[in-house]
Amino acid sequence: FIFLFYFFSRWSRERVQNHFRRLLKPRLSGLIFYILLTIFVLFSFTSLGPKFPSSYGFSSKDKRQDNSKGVPSGKERSKVESTPVLNPHNFHLMISNSRLCNDDDEIHLLILVTSSADHFNERQAIRSTWGHPDYLSTYSTRLIFLLANPNNLSTQRMIVEEYRTYGDLIQEDFVESYMNLTLKTVMGIKWASLHCSRASYVMKTDDDIFVNVPLLTTHLTSLSGGRERGGQGERVRLFTGK
Ligand SMILES: *[C@@H]1O[C@H](CO)[C@@H](O)[C@H](O)[C@H]1NC(C)=O
Ligand SMILES: *[C@@H]1O[C@H](CO)[C@@H](O)[C@H](O)[C@H]1NC(C)=O
Repeated sequence: FIFLFYFFSRWSRERVQNHFRRLLKPRLSGLIFYILLTIFVLFSFTSLGPKFPSSYGFSSKDKRQDNSKGVPSGKERSKVESTPVLNPHNFHLMISNSRLCNDDDEIHLLILVTSSADHFNERQAIRSTWGHPDYLSTYSTRLIFLLANPNNLSTQRMIVEEYRTYGDLIQEDFVESYMNLTLKTVMGIKWASLHCSRASYVMKTDDDIFVNVPLLTTHLTSLSGGRERGGQGERVRLFTGK
């Protein structure tokens, strides 16, 4: 536009033509250089845009659609389902305890206790104190220990024996180590959702913790029942911040 203004502000056609000749001839190579430069700059800008790896299965456009509707449509859902899971948890269950919640009794609270495979004494201490099954059942509470693979045959034999006696543990086939505690927590949440989903509350703790079950369950009841506070009996979930 600046060029056009410059040329047409001088109304003489001849002058313009002369100008063109003088301007373009010696600078033709320069002009081509600028055109190529412009194409190059435009090209590099378009290829520099935000890029999502195709394995994530969405572009920024899809994301906006999802947010506006809340629930993804059928097409978007199939796209989500075909998306690889970033942190799959597909470890083999060595002891899959699916019977702990297999009855019709109410389960108000499920307590998951991470415990190192060789912590036999710690587990026994919990069973004979705050985690005694009879004591817990008066509070509609169940307890399960989460174990990993100790890679030790004699330890494993003792764990299987312990399971036969108490039936209160699950074990997955990943290496038992402190650094793998995250995996153990995920294993507990997965088990709770698959085999004990009717529990109103799930708590995760460790085998060196003493839980005040009466106080905790009373507190949870005051949150969920509402009757004590004269509410509508509508459940208030702890994690929504209602
Ligand atoms: C297996 O565990 C036992 C104790 O439970 C220990 O005495 C033994 O050394 C362990 N074996 C190996 C190979 O680590
Ligand atoms: C955690 O478990 C995985 C799967 O068994 C194993 O490959 C990894 O070495 C473990 N991590 C540690 C720190 O032991």
